[in-house]
Amino acid sequence: MDFNEKNATEAVLNSFAGIKDNRLKEIMSSIITHLHEVVKEVEPTEEEWMKAIMFLTKTGYMSDDRRQEFILLSDVLGVSMLLDSINNRKSKNETETTVLGPFHTPSSKMNNGDNIANNVEGENCIVKGKIVDVNNNVISGASIEVWQSGPDGLYDVQKEGNLVDLRGTFMSQHDGSYLFRTVKPQYYPIPVDGPVGDLLNSLDRHPFRPAHVHFMVKANGYKDLVTHAFIDGDKYLESDTVFAVKKSLIRKLEEGFDEENNSKCFFLNFDIVMESIKKGA
Ligand code: BEZ
Ligand code: FE
Repeated sequence: MDFNEKNATEAVLNSFAGIKDNRLKEIMSSIITHLHEVVKEVEPTEEEWMKAIMFLTKTGYMSDDRRQEFILLSDVLGVSMLLDSINNRKSKNETETTVLGPFHTPSSKMNNGDNIANNVEGENCIVKGKIVDVNNNVISGASIEVWQSGPDGLYDVQKEGNLVDLRGTFMSQHDGSYLFRTVKPQYYPIPVDGPVGDLLNSLDRHPFRPAHVHFMVKANGYKDLVTHAFIDGDKYLESDTVFAVKKSLIRKLEEGFDEENNSKCFFLNFDIVMESIKKGA
């Protein structure tokens, strides 16, 4: 029988009859069903379809070891955060998760109290908190990776050279506490020099993310936690271009004094509640 508008979806689904991997079969069947629905609903012209193909082609060309334009695309379309919501449903009072983002890279171990901002001009900030479980028992020896952009809005990996800046790996102390020094984070634009930037532009969307510090916390017996601490009052909290803000992650910056460095500084308190791997614990 001829392939036509009426039997198109059925014809492709039938071609999947022999797929042995059941999960792959389920995923491909769903993708085809929805993709055909979109094409039938929108009825793209051949030029429009070619434009879509060229957009995806450019997205691929833009991606390499340092830049992942497809992840950025998934971020700005809300797919990354939808996936995050599905895979990290909160059951108790554990700290909520948010996007990893494209700028995580392993960082060197630092001592409690160290400053992650080397040769960076900015307003001093002390970030501190406690790592606990859902019953408020302290967790010592947790690995706490932190990273943030500089006052210029760029992460170290976005710059030429191999400089390592504004990132470090700390360990929670005997009482579960951690503390590090840095500069006050600022809002910044995601990279807009590629096809995702062009897309945001044509959708009349801004590229900004509200100020935040990234955290990746790992402790034995607990689920790895990927999250951010957001700064209260930021003008982009309500319109994060990657939809990654959760109210429970917003903290007020307190003004204070850093006795050790004899200087004014902000304090950002961010306690973290880890979820046990054991069910019901
Ligand atoms: C980030 O916060 O580093 C980020 C997250 C998603 C897209 C781009 C940047
Ligand atoms: Fe970020």
